[in-house]
Amino acid sequence: MNQTTQIPETALEAQLALCGRIAAYWQGRGKAPTAYVETYGCQQNEADSQRIRGLLVQCGYRIVDGAEGADAVVMNTCAIREHAEQRVFGNLGALQHTKRRHPEQKIFLCGCMAGQRTVVERLKKSYPHVDGVFDPQELWRFPEVLDRVLTTGKRVFLSEEGPGAIAEGLPVVRDDPLKAWVSIMYGCNNFCTYCIVPYVRGRERSRQPEEILKECRELIASGCREITLLGQNVNSYGKDLDRGWDFSDLLAAIASLDGEFLIRFMTSHPRDAGKKLFDTMAAYPKIAKQLHLPFQSGSSRILKAMNRHYDREAYLRAVDYARSVMPGLVLTSDVIVGFPGETEADFEETLSLISRVRYDALFTFLFSPRPGTPAASLPDPTPKEEKSRRFDRLCELQNAISEEIHRAYVGRTLTCLIDGREKDLLTARTEGGRLVRLEGPEDRIGSFAPVLITGATTWSLTGRLEES
Ligand code: SAH
Ligand code: SF4
Ligand code: F3S
Repeated sequence: MNQTTQIPETALEAQLALCGRIAAYWQGRGKAPTAYVETYGCQQNEADSQRIRGLLVQCGYRIVDGAEGADAVVMNTCAIREHAEQRVFGNLGALQHTKRRHPEQKIFLCGCMAGQRTVVERLKKSYPHVDGVFDPQELWRFPEVLDRVLTTGKRVFLSEEGPGAIAEGLPVVRDDPLKAWVSIMYGCNNFCTYCIVPYVRGRERSRQPEEILKECRELIASGCREITLLGQNVNSYGKDLDRGWDFSDLLAAIASLDGEFLIRFMTSHPRDAGKKLFDTMAAYPKIAKQLHLPFQSGSSRILKAMNRHYDREAYLRAVDYARSVMPGLVLTSDVIVGFPGETEADFEETLSLISRVRYDALFTFLFSPRPGTPAASLPDPTPKEEKSRRFDRLCELQNAISEEIHRAYVGRTLTCLIDGREKDLLTARTEGGRLVRLEGPEDRIGSFAPVLITGATTWSLTGRLEES
């Protein structure tokens, strides 16, 4: 299978040429334009927003941190749950007022909501103040959208129905010099029955390993200390390339680069996370011993209905093997409560899996039916109140476990990356990604340092610098 295509260089150059034209347009009007980008959803969207900002800067815009008075507003949206969409529609409504106060404001909507035809129809009909809409596969054509909106004053809607392609070489504006997201692949082929992502982000497309390594090398040379590789299912990296590289090979190659840095990655799908991945993680000190391995449900019956392609036993086997080769592994996960047809017995299997695995942290979600996905039309007899009760019971169990695990850190000295400050304290991350607050001089930001953990709560740790 070798199907991923790259956007031709000439097509990208044409977009960058449009950036120049837009910059000239503003110069001609004697104005330095400003732009605001608002991001919803996951790290993939954060990474995409950095590219959108990169393109805006190329077009001569200065990035500001609010919509009021901005000449361009870009909403990079998330469609994962109904609540996420409602928030976007609410905030989009409010932009009517900012536009009234600044009639030249141009409003754009992109991201996963823009990949849904029903949403685009609604925007066309009921949100006339939105000037441009483009889906995630069309992000690289944003200059074209912006140019057409500015020069014609007409509304522009772009959507790509095909599998999508890879656009290399887009400009990026990163906000943190120490930490970087690096997308290694886009899209998803898994079609979990509850999930909208494969419908809105197209098929799995992997970047060429050389391109990823080049980006990582440049980041490390610029002082970046933490690289997080991103993909909906990083373990299927390379399957579409026919290059003989899998995700473990890519990890090993990045971990062999010179420099002082850590690699993280997300998300791993349990179906494809096998021994080779865990052995690779164990073998390279630069790969953080941290794994986000969503289980979604502890019931094999529900996992089958979710189309997850693993069962409870296989999941637990993977976790046991990972821990056998990485005893200190920090493990986090995602879980959905209230999938259609989930019984009390299924739910108790979820609780028992949590008790057995003892995650460091969990991201917990109430099932939200997404129009067009198979699970949205399954019978769902469990009342909402019962689902909420289950949700609360699960959170209570997990919070107690997180707190116990955090308390066991107290008294240990860990190498942490000092990564910023919060009021008069420094912040740091353990190798496992746990947040530590500590006192210390600002000039330590950007270095790895030994930190003695002195206190713990459910969510974070406190500590002090150990002089090395
Ligand atoms: N690709 C990642 C997850 C992407 S979405 C993976 O496969 O693990 C992040 C999380 O949102 C999912 O892991 C799932 O727990 C949750 N999620 C996705 N669709 C959902 C829905 N319809 N309702 C509730 N939670 C959902
Ligand atoms: Fe959604 Fe499943 Fe793909 Fe994750 S693997 S993005 S949950 S379809
Ligand atoms: Fe949301 Fe799209 Fe990410 S739906 S969670 S922003 S991939």
